[in-house]
Amino acid sequence: MTKNRIIYASKTGHSKKMAAAIGKVLDIIPDNITSNPVIEETDFLFIVGGIYGGGSLPELLTFVQAIEDKKVRKAVLITSCAAKKQGQDSVRSILEDKGITIVDEILCQGSFLFMKIGHPNKTDITEAVNFAANILKGAVK
Ligand SMILES: Cc1cc2nc3c(=O)[nH]c(=O)nc-3n(C[C@H](O)[C@H](O)[C@H](O)COP(=O)(O)O)c2cc1C
Repeated sequence: MTKNRIIYASKTGHSKKMAAAIGKVLDIIPDNITSNPVIEETDFLFIVGGIYGGGSLPELLTFVQAIEDKKVRKAVLITSCAAKKQGQDSVRSILEDKGITIVDEILCQGSFLFMKIGHPNKTDITEAVNFAANILKGAVK
C-alpha cells in the first residue's frame, strides 16, 4: 500500500486551493505547513507552493529542511507563479541533498496584482489535478 501526502504553503490562497482540489481527487487531506505536520514514511510527497520575489516562502524551505532523511521516497512539485518561469528550485535542491527523487514539477499559472488576474482558474487547477493523478497512475503501472 503506497502512502502519499500533500503539503502546501500559501500566502494568498492559490496553493491551498490547488492542494484541496488535488487532495479531493487523490483522496488525501492536504496539510498546511503552518500546522507543522509530521512527515512519516511517504512514497510520494506532493509539495504545492508559489513563488515570491523569485523564490519559495522561507517557512516552506525551513519545513522541507526539517523533513527527516529517508522518510520520503519521491517528491512532486506543484508550483504556481505569475510568470510561469520560476520553479521551486530551493525546495528541489534541499530535497535532492536529502537523496529524495523529484519525479516532476509543473508550473501552473498564478497571478500577482494585475498580472494574470483571475489565475489560477478552473483550467489551471484541473491541469494541476491531472498532473498529480497521472504521476500516481504512472507509478502503479
Ligand atoms: C509578494 C508576492 C511576490 C510574488 N513574486 C513572484 C515572482 O517573483 N515570480 C512569479 O512568477 N510570481 C510571483 N508572485 C505570484 C505568486 O507566485 C502566485 O500568485 C502564486 O500563485 C501565489 O501562491 P499562493 O496564493 O499560494 O501564495 C508573487 C506573489 C506575491 C503575493
